[in-house]
Amino acid sequence: MKKKHKVLFVCLGNICRSPMAEAIFRDMVDKAGLTDCFEIDSAATSSWEIGNPVHHGTRNKLKEVGISTKGMTARKLTKGDYAQFDYIIGMEQENIRNILKIVERNDSEKVFRLLDLSKRPRDIADPWYTGDFETTYQDVLEGCTDLLAHILKA
Ligand code: 4NP
Repeated sequence: MKKKHKVLFVCLGNICRSPMAEAIFRDMVDKAGLTDCFEIDSAATSSWEIGNPVHHGTRNKLKEVGISTKGMTARKLTKGDYAQFDYIIGMEQENIRNILKIVERNDSEKVFRLLDLSKRPRDIADPWYTGDFETTYQDVLEGCTDLLAHILKA
């Protein structure tokens, strides 16, 4: 069997942004008929929300576009994830710093921001204080579209 592309999305709590990216990216991969070519997961840099379900803002936005987050719960990033995954994708610059700390590396080509591949590199909008899950959704959609194209041409 061909090697799978292993993709891990990471944010601070693993209840808003990274589970949104996980669910959107999985949906894209499924619709492209590539389900068996990918392993997709998400994790947190903090321990705050471990075991908690996806935030209702992310859940409701994704429900609007026909994507379910049922059964997804927050987990913390581990040092072992570094060897396990090919792409470890942060939502914002602070995630990148924290990911590198947890996996005990100074730098890594597999660790980058989701929107670093964009024509306009930036952080994913954080909905935690704004409640604006729509902008987060648009950002994540843009990032996941570019990420899938990037992986498929790699
Ligand atoms: P996330 O959002 O990192 O996108 O899952 C947050 C979740 C929890 C907190 C902040 C952001 N918090 O402060 O507990």
